[in-house]
Amino acid sequence: MAKARPDCKAFLILFLVFLPMVASGRSVGVNWGTMANHQLPPEKVVQMLKDNKFDKVKLFEADEKIMGALIGTDIEVMVAIPNYMLQDMSGDSGLAADWVQENVTNYSYDGGVHIKYVAVGNEPFLQTYNNSFLTVTMPALRNIQEALNNAGLGSRVKATVPFNADIYYSPDTNPVPSAGDFRADIRDHAIEIVQFLYENDAPFTVNIYPFLSLYSDEYFPIDYAFFDGPNKSINDGNAVYNNVFDANLDTLLWALKKAGYPDMEIIVGEVGWPTDGDKHANTDNAKRFNQGLIRHVLRGEGTPVRNKKVNVYLFSLIDENAKSIAPGSFERHWGLFEFDGKPKYELDLSGYKKNKGLIGAQYVEYMPKKWCVLDPDAEDLSDLPDSISYACSLSDCTSLGYGSSCNHLDANGNASYAFNMYYQVQNQRSWDCDFSGLAIVTDENPSQGDCHFPVMIAYGSSVTLQMEIFDILLALVGGSMMILLLL
Ligand SMILES: *[C@@H]1O[C@H](CO)[C@@H](O)[C@H](O)[C@H]1NC(C)=O
Ligand SMILES: *[C@@H]1O[C@H](CO)[C@@H](O)[C@H](O)[C@H]1NC(C)=O
Ligand SMILES: *[C@@H]1O[C@H](CO)[C@@H](O)[C@H](O)[C@H]1NC(C)=O
Ligand SMILES: *[C@@H]1O[C@H](CO)[C@@H](O)[C@H](O)[C@H]1NC(C)=O
Ligand SMILES: *[C@@H]1O[C@H](CO)[C@@H](O)[C@H](O)[C@H]1NC(C)=O
Repeated sequence: MAKARPDCKAFLILFLVFLPMVASGRSVGVNWGTMANHQLPPEKVVQMLKDNKFDKVKLFEADEKIMGALIGTDIEVMVAIPNYMLQDMSGDSGLAADWVQENVTNYSYDGGVHIKYVAVGNEPFLQTYNNSFLTVTMPALRNIQEALNNAGLGSRVKATVPFNADIYYSPDTNPVPSAGDFRADIRDHAIEIVQFLYENDAPFTVNIYPFLSLYSDEYFPIDYAFFDGPNKSINDGNAVYNNVFDANLDTLLWALKKAGYPDMEIIVGEVGWPTDGDKHANTDNAKRFNQGLIRHVLRGEGTPVRNKKVNVYLFSLIDENAKSIAPGSFERHWGLFEFDGKPKYELDLSGYKKNKGLIGAQYVEYMPKKWCVLDPDAEDLSDLPDSISYACSLSDCTSLGYGSSCNHLDANGNASYAFNMYYQVQNQRSWDCDFSGLAIVTDENPSQGDCHFPVMIAYGSSVTLQMEIFDILLALVGGSMMILLLL
């Protein structure tokens, strides 16, 4: 009897601690992009999702192998239609029906894939797209939702459109969330989509990048990009904002409120922090941002405008070494995990324990421990700059740039880095470590400090170059919009 009380209390505390997590989803979601030339087998990646208890994943298309690997899991999936398909989907409801049949219905059986959303396009109203997708997005969305309805899936699978945060803003003259509205050039189209989503009980999806606010404005108050400031805060009526994420999200909520949709459901489709390719992109900042974000959203208190848990998908799971770097070198370094599935830093995805590690991919196969470097005995170095340019044009040298992890290398180190990246991407073929006799293969790891010379994973190269260049110009605009909002 005497023992019963403490037990009860412990139980109650446990219950109270876990209740909010059970009630609001165990964790956050994550984006799984595939713009990489060597990729872990989908089965290993799905195992990583399970091991780390991700219960939601967002994809950028409906890759058959990835969908196959998700069969039989409980993971909730947002599958996607790339922008280049929007034209077809908008003009022909038969093609939309075919897409739904092959990529949704096909997997929607008991024990199949738990598809919950179809993302129709990716940031189609991005300013840098010059309105290319302005008129096709709505009809494509309608055709897809109708195809889902006709397949009998409409009540559990919802079509949505992930937008960049550049579709809304606050004016320079009044840079507070309550002054938020949709960008004038896309306003009518955006509201038409909002109305359709609302009528279908589908969420509005938005991608928000505090990193880009910092990247694109040297005067941006750095702490305001994170969640543990608050040196900088802005007041908006009675609301106080300590971080740009909340301010940005509330700018959208105000825009929706003004359009007549105060209770529109929101998903944050992408949010994250890169670890290389810029002076602000490193593992400390990425950990600080992502851990702060996860605690912030899992506490469930929402934002000043909406006191409710925010549903977020981290960007992203694994680095993608073939992404376009038009927006910046950081584009290839958004992963929580390296290209080989190794965690980059500790991150507690449950939001309540400290320094709990991420769990990496298991039993990964690598190519032999061989590197290609500048031959120390090479004499005529006149071809070196051309050789480096060539190597880097066909591989990923973003870690060499200003503010990046290998920026401290000397000219010879640069050459070795470039040669090695090329050699690894080419699957260590002997003839790819030559560069007119300037290069040699070594079995001594040339890594220096934080500058890591990788050995590639031993899984076939397959670059899927979609409309990614298009899809990627996203960033700069989104970032500058956020500055407007702030300063
Ligand atoms: C299903 O999705 C895949 C991957 O995006 C695509 O290649 C294929 O064309 C889609 N199927 C149909 C019938 O549209
Ligand atoms: C259904 O999905 C499987 C993968 O699980 C794929 O192999 C097959 O081609 C798809 N069938 C149809 C009719 O789309
Ligand atoms: C958008 O328009 C600008 C200026 O007219 C042009 O430089 C740019 O290439 C266009 N971008 C796309 C994606 O069409
Ligand atoms: C924020 O405040 C802390 C403690 O007062 C200080 O050390 C830090 O430099 C400040 N950061 C900025 C960006 O002002
Ligand atoms: C190495 O390459 C980077 C990126 O191209 C460049 O910024 C840096 O100046 C180079 N270092 C030397 C010593 O040449």
